[in-house]
Amino acid sequence: MSHRIAVIPGDGIGTEVMLEGLRVLEAAARRFDLDLTLEHFDFACCDYYLEHGRMLPDDWFDRLKDFDAILYGAVGWPEKVPDHISLWGSLLQFRRQFDQYINLRPCKLLPGIKSPLADRRPGDIDFYVVRENTEGEYSSVGGRMFEGTEREVVIQETVMTRVGVDRVLKYAFDLAATRPRKKLTSATKSNGIAITMPWWDERVKAMSTNYPDVSVDAFHIDILTANFVMHPDWFDVVVASNLFGDILSDLGPACTGTIGVAPSANINPEGKFPSLFEPVHGSAPDIAGKGIANPIGQIWSAAMMLEHLGHKEAGKAIVDAFEAVLAEADPAVLTADAGGHGTTETLGRAIAERLAAG
Ligand code: NAD
Ligand code: IPM
Ligand code: MN
Repeated sequence: MSHRIAVIPGDGIGTEVMLEGLRVLEAAARRFDLDLTLEHFDFACCDYYLEHGRMLPDDWFDRLKDFDAILYGAVGWPEKVPDHISLWGSLLQFRRQFDQYINLRPCKLLPGIKSPLADRRPGDIDFYVVRENTEGEYSSVGGRMFEGTEREVVIQETVMTRVGVDRVLKYAFDLAATRPRKKLTSATKSNGIAITMPWWDERVKAMSTNYPDVSVDAFHIDILTANFVMHPDWFDVVVASNLFGDILSDLGPACTGTIGVAPSANINPEGKFPSLFEPVHGSAPDIAGKGIANPIGQIWSAAMMLEHLGHKEAGKAIVDAFEAVLAEADPAVLTADAGGHGTTETLGRAIAERLAAG
């Protein structure tokens, strides 16, 4: 079967890690005889905004909607365009308009990478954050009044819908049910956010009755962040609202040594619209242009994309390839965040070669 993939590098290190993501994707296509057609787009980045006054062309939806998947780098360059404009004008539109209501973010301590947490080894940290991705705290309901005066008021409402919350909970329970430990943790804050969050807890409880084999616990988000650091081995599948999931999905990978390796899948499970695959990290202006960004977040995202498209074996082979390269721990190959002094390209090439060697 052939697949059409839209490639959007974005800004900063997005453009650098994308080259390695594509190198590895092409190696996978050769080895597994996959028929992939890649089409490149120059929008959804800040240079496009500087030229056109907007992040996306008017017809972006029609141009992208029939692709089988979107591979994205990272977007944002605050010195060129304020973040809320660049992000609301691009990535957040993709997630919302393509109803990518699941943001699946694996968090795994990989071989050869040192956790900043003492005595943690591969196997100790291996869980998923399932983040609600289209509503919640990321809402456009609100406004500013009495701007610039002493009476200034700023409101941004959290919006949770029964359909929106139940569908992300169902996805997370289904995922937990497939895992050996069958454990689901809910991120709440029902002690302080006393309208939406007690209701979130009720929905978790209601959904859990369909999954007698899945054990469920819940933590308020404050102590949950502490437990990510103190007891990362407790977690298997963690389900969270949009903002809580955003925070947990940087913290989790930080506990595994670097956010540079963390991937994400923005999924429309019904397949009505394309799903979007991108690293968890951003455009990293502090290291952009130096060729030292870790490409594994992008490469792993490409693996998740192949799995989503039905090529499980190819996806797994990519993960096996980067795990093997990391386990060798050659400092000339690994990027600085992973303990080496290599480049984005040395690491990307090593993974592509390992994959090709089978
Ligand atoms: P960031 O993730 O870009 O960078 C945070 C830190 O992690 C930086 O020190 C950076 O050097 C490091 N880092 C990130 N990726 C790395 C990699 N692959 N290898 C090695 N080190 C890496 O977060 P930020 O600094 O808060 O944001 C920078 C810009 O990116 C902003 O415009 C922000 O809005 C945007 N952003 C975009 C996305 C996205 O496209 N999904 C995600 C997060 C942030
Ligand atoms: C992420 C990012 C985005 C988010 C930003 C850049 C809007 O942090 O993908 O995690 O908050 O979702
Ligand atoms: Mn984030």
